[in-house]
Amino acid sequence: MAISLAGQVALVTGGGRGIGRSVALDLARHGANVVVNDTGGGLDGRGTDPGVAEAVVREITGAGGEALVNTGSVVSYEAAYGMVKQAVDAWGRLDIVVSNAGFLRDQAFHNMKEDDWLDIIQTHLTGAYNVLHHAWPVFRQQRYGRVVLTSSNSGFVGNFGQANYGAAKGGLIGLMNVLKLEGVKYNVNVNCLGPGAATRMTENLMPPERLARMSPDFVAPAVTYLCSPDCSSSGFIIEASGGAFGRAAIVRNSQVRLADPTADQVAAHWGEITDLEKAEPWWSIGQSLKDHLAGAQDKGIAATT
Ligand SMILES: NC(=O)c1ccc[n+]([C@@H]2O[C@H](COP(=O)([O-])OP(=O)(O)OC[C@H]3O[C@@H](n4cnc5c(N)ncnc54)[C@H](O)[C@@H]3O)[C@@H](O)[C@H]2O)c1
Repeated sequence: MAISLAGQVALVTGGGRGIGRSVALDLARHGANVVVNDTGGGLDGRGTDPGVAEAVVREITGAGGEALVNTGSVVSYEAAYGMVKQAVDAWGRLDIVVSNAGFLRDQAFHNMKEDDWLDIIQTHLTGAYNVLHHAWPVFRQQRYGRVVLTSSNSGFVGNFGQANYGAAKGGLIGLMNVLKLEGVKYNVNVNCLGPGAATRMTENLMPPERLARMSPDFVAPAVTYLCSPDCSSSGFIIEASGGAFGRAAIVRNSQVRLADPTADQVAAHWGEITDLEKAEPWWSIGQSLKDHLAGAQDKGIAATT
């Protein structure tokens, strides 16, 4: 059955360029009305250009869809309220938030200035909070919502020179993990995206032959599916790049129980303690609580003195 977002309303932050633009266009192609938010700033986040969001809105409306321009910054709690209000005022609801706005201020950690740290955290992490905190009551009232947080490999596994960005993107995983729980009762699904695409953000980071196969249009289908009523998954990290799609997860092993732990015993059992051979996805605090309560007798290796 073909995916349809007819009658649904979406907000895409950073929807004026790159991945956000492809996502906004694809959501509209599937029938959603879209608020295209973008400050139009430079790659370092400085400056503004309203023409960036306007161009995407023109593309959507030119193809027969409905879209509105929003040029507010996700860094502002008030501006984020304006984005949600704009959607609800125009179309009476808000079903989808794709929190995607962002930029880079890469520096090796010893050179990273406080401004570069704070600006990145405020845009990627607090920006997601700002938008979602206003969207959440609408989702709860509708008893429906779909959220995609654009995270990054930098947050999953690290990337040299991106301590600020990696911390912000990793923070989005934590935000997702909590909201996946708080959203269950209201049919609000929250997932993270780990994209890879040829945009101005990556044009100097990868060779042209690789970038040629990495159109952001190949990322957007994963977002559209995650944002559709057809997708019931929540709390997933989905990778999408160059037409390849997959899932990543935090895993844990079944732990080693030491009867009378000392640093020497931890050292002696380090191989088993850190062995991920039989690790499984770690989904809830309940899993670890269960292990703690299980007791020494039925679990792991009892330490010898
Ligand atoms: N391109 C990749 O391979 C890649 C990989 C991992 C993660 N990401 C993430 O994907 C998202 C999109 O990146 P992209 O590659 O399309 O970059 P891009 O620069 O092409 O697009 C990002 C857009 O966000 C807008 N923006 C920046 N700050 C904003 C703010 N405060 N409020 C509103 N809009 C703002 C920018 O003006 C820009 O148009 C980002 O969050 C980025 O960190 C991208």
